[in-house]
Amino acid sequence: MKISAKKEGDYKSIRFPCPECFTYEDHVDVAKYFAKELEAVKAAGENTRQGIAYSVMEAVANAAIHGKGHVEIRYWLSDKTFKATIKDEGSGFDIAHWKAWYERREKAAQERKMDKDTTFYHKLDKNGAGAGLVVIHGFMDCVEFNEQGNEITLYKNL
Ligand SMILES: Nc1ncnc2c1ncn2[C@@H]1O[C@H](COP(=O)(O)OP(=O)(O)OP(=O)(O)O)[C@@H](O)[C@H]1O
Ligand SMILES: [Mg+2]
Repeated sequence: MKISAKKEGDYKSIRFPCPECFTYEDHVDVAKYFAKELEAVKAAGENTRQGIAYSVMEAVANAAIHGKGHVEIRYWLSDKTFKATIKDEGSGFDIAHWKAWYERREKAAQERKMDKDTTFYHKLDKNGAGAGLVVIHGFMDCVEFNEQGNEITLYKNL
């Protein structure tokens, strides 16, 4: 996927229609694009830059795979912070449900036990899927959703 960003005031935006199939190569292209953008912030360190690129990739994949319409990425990059919003035009999902599951999962993980509610990670067992949002929360300093669940905002101090 060819990724091209438009400069709009203090942020850049990337917009594309939700593809019929968001391929593994598309995932890689998004991660590579953000890794390259973040190269400008040398002080951030390799791990931070890769963590951000990976997290944005997961959020974009969610919008492209689970969402509808267009995907729009907006990102703000300074020496000190990275912020991105990833939005699609689909109906979103039940954030409160996911958050409750995430908190129970965190607790279960601390006790090294699997949570019984497999709503969000049943696929993790079978196909290695269902981990995107958990990984994003692990890498980023702050993650916010809009009420509908079709927009996610990621923050990271650099
Ligand atoms: N933009 C979105 N629109 C609609 N549903 C979403 C969106 N983002 C996430 N979801 C819902 O949240 C669930 C969890 O997302 P998560 O990224 O953690 O796992 P996954 O996308 O199912 O699998 P993986 O990311 O590991 O390939 C998704 O299965 C989907 O139901
Ligand atoms: Mg996902």
